Amino acid sequence: MSASNREVVLGVGAGIAAYKSCELLRRLQDRGYTVTVVPTPSSLNFVGSATWEALSGRPVSTEVWDNVHEVSHISLAQKADFFVIAPATADLIARIAMGRADDLLTNLVLASEAPLLIVPAMHPAMWLDPATIANVQTLRSRGYVVMEPETGRLTGRDSGQGRFPETSSIIEKFDVITGNVRDLVGKRVLISGGGTREAIDPVRFIGNRSSGKQAVALASAALLRGADVHLVAANMSTEELGGVTVTEVESAQEMHQALLHEFPLCDVLVMCAAVADAKPTQRFTEKIKKTFLTSINLEPNPDIVAELSKTKQGQIMIGFAAETSHHTEAARSKLVAKGLDAIYVNDVSDGAIFGKDTTQGMILSRTGADIALKEVSKDALAHLLLDYAARQLG
Ligand code: C5P
Repeated sequence: MSASNREVVLGVGAGIAAYKSCELLRRLQDRGYTVTVVPTPSSLNFVGSATWEALSGRPVSTEVWDNVHEVSHISLAQKADFFVIAPATADLIARIAMGRADDLLTNLVLASEAPLLIVPAMHPAMWLDPATIANVQTLRSRGYVVMEPETGRLTGRDSGQGRFPETSSIIEKFDVITGNVRDLVGKRVLISGGGTREAIDPVRFIGNRSSGKQAVALASAALLRGADVHLVAANMSTEELGGVTVTEVESAQEMHQALLHEFPLCDVLVMCAAVADAKPTQRFTEKIKKTFLTSINLEPNPDIVAELSKTKQGQIMIGFAAETSHHTEAARSKLVAKGLDAIYVNDVSDGAIFGKDTTQGMILSRTGADIALKEVSKDALAHLLLDYAARQLG
């Protein structure tokens, strides 16, 4: 889909920075987006409907009570490909975090599933108030991207963190959520995915429930961001991955060999595969008769990522941890023990996550900026992990 077919809703909160969103609207239009402006009623004190209608070339409503026959809070929500709320005041952030629907904009946010970029601007005392901090955390945990306001002089005499970011920074962030960002051009991203199988005999194997969907999401996201992508795929479907170099493997040993070869060439390794921790000591060449199938002797597989990290030369390494209990503590020890830069831990008890399109868990990193994610798409997680890698690569 080209940008010109893409609909953006620009929500405007009641902050003095509303006038700066006129520039943002223009820059979005320059990029080919069709923009509908939805101001909150109080924001019209700063910039009136006439300005928004003239600049957007579209009618402007603030309430669900306008044009009721069009059911605009649903039709607009379904039509929108992306949402940007700029500026977002402390009150607007609080209302969205609580799931309120007291004007057209908050109705739209509730009714839409489109990616949402929130650009806060407010006095530093309000930005740093525990209530706002908690609300921002809630929004981020829902997968919304909330920008950090800039630091500097405010409207009054005060200075601090709360300034509306430069339009160019907002556009840069917007490109990330729309998938237009090309911040991995020239970078090699190596991904392992799927679940390894350890043969018992020609028919049977020890395997696991990994579907490879997260690896597909990672490979597609990295490709979109301009990277050279190599996927080492264990027993997963790779049909939809045109443009990605794929090495098919079956066992942990084959995956180890493939990664040993590719790892020195990469800038980022995302170790998403579920690797069997152990394999049968012996692989029978003939199918074992069922009367002899009473026990299987196992020996450990090498911890691939831990081995690779010993040879690392500046690569950013991200691992995954699927846990059924004590998730965070277990993942934090793995982060250190395996020499990773970051790890995504999810709770897979009761069959959750495997084979699904969504995930929930926590990103833990060496730099300490942990992110808790309530149900988000595997695509959204892929972009968050690549954001982390891109930042670390500088
Ligand atoms: O120890 P655990 O299996 O929970 O660790 C998960 C992480 O370690 C994943 O990133 C997985 O791909 C990687 N791993 C590995 N080699 C193994 C087992 C896990 O690289 N033998």
